[in-house]
Amino acid sequence: QEITWDASQAEKGGFPHFMLKEIYEQPEAIRDTLRGRLDPESGRVDLSDAALSPEFFEGLRKIFFVACGTSYHAGLVGKYLLEALAGIPVEVDLASEFRYRDPLVDEGTLAVVISQSGETADTLAGLRLARDKGARVLGIVNVLGSTIAREAHRVIYTHAGPEIGVASTKAFTSQLTVILLLALYLGGLSGRLSPERARLLARELVEFPGLLQKLIPKVHPLLKELSEHYFRQENFLYLGRNILFPVALEGALKLKEISYIHAEGYAAGEMKHGPIALIEESVPTVALAPRESGVVYEKMVSNIEEVRSRRGPVLAFGTQGDEHLAGLSTDFVGLPPVSWEISPLLYTVPLQLFAYEMAVRRGCDVDQPRNLAKSVTVE
Ligand code: AGP
Repeated sequence: QEITWDASQAEKGGFPHFMLKEIYEQPEAIRDTLRGRLDPESGRVDLSDAALSPEFFEGLRKIFFVACGTSYHAGLVGKYLLEALAGIPVEVDLASEFRYRDPLVDEGTLAVVISQSGETADTLAGLRLARDKGARVLGIVNVLGSTIAREAHRVIYTHAGPEIGVASTKAFTSQLTVILLLALYLGGLSGRLSPERARLLARELVEFPGLLQKLIPKVHPLLKELSEHYFRQENFLYLGRNILFPVALEGALKLKEISYIHAEGYAAGEMKHGPIALIEESVPTVALAPRESGVVYEKMVSNIEEVRSRRGPVLAFGTQGDEHLAGLSTDFVGLPPVSWEISPLLYTVPLQLFAYEMAVRRGCDVDQPRNLAKSVTVE
């Protein structure tokens, strides 16, 4: 017989859904993931709780991120961070592709395997392939003692706490936090990251949970109101550039998996190579355009102008007070200015809230979307 799964309000901390509770728990999850690992004064990162020391990284020539779904998007952000801060070449692979091709992995490779559940079949197979080819394997895992955590050579745990909602939220921002710590750590080891920049980022990262704690309740009502305008649409485009391109992918995944709206994330620079053909009044575009991103900002603005000139609605997320961007866009959500390296942590959260409110407005089963499981332990 149909087993109805209806946790009590108490289990959801008074929230209507686990997913919303977990979105609001992100400041705490990031704080817990940082605890004991980052000294804001010196910018020094301590990963000894993962039994990591400089020796583990000796002779490292290349990093592979291997993961699925949202965790894969964390790996894509990791490429931007690790190449910029640590100067190490990074490849990012979907685990289901990595395991069936013949990746160039050897003892100079570090395979960073990202998994909230630590039980994803494709990701576990990727881990075993990399390990058998001589790579060092570092897990970024949320579930203590899970298979991936046990089989990796080292594991840095995210301390997000149990994530019940099928759509990953606090685990993702906690993964980004660990990856940022790893980039700071390796950047310091390689000497490529200046002590000044390390201190600045460390301070900003330690203060970020407080910023987010204030922002979420402030921006949530606006996103709920926006969902009223957009919930009937059946197709969305999500555009980002540079380190926010993976966040556009993640925002699109959130929307599609809980509201069943077809949403596609794209590198904004690709518009002219095809996607602009999709633009019409019934296809809204979500655009991520922080003003601090320099030339990339200018390019995002021209992408937004391209969309608007073809009557496509644009819901832009940018820097508070950016009247120019707000004037160009159909709707605008202003966010606090943050460093480039921190921007994925910030821009992801309003996209989670938007997807959540869209799914609720469409009457979808937010915590247990159709056809999906929390952990894909089969291929
Ligand atoms: C996330 O919103 C999705 N539910 C899904 O893509 C998930 O990220 C993916 O299945 C990987 O799971 P894991 O992190 O537990 O390995």
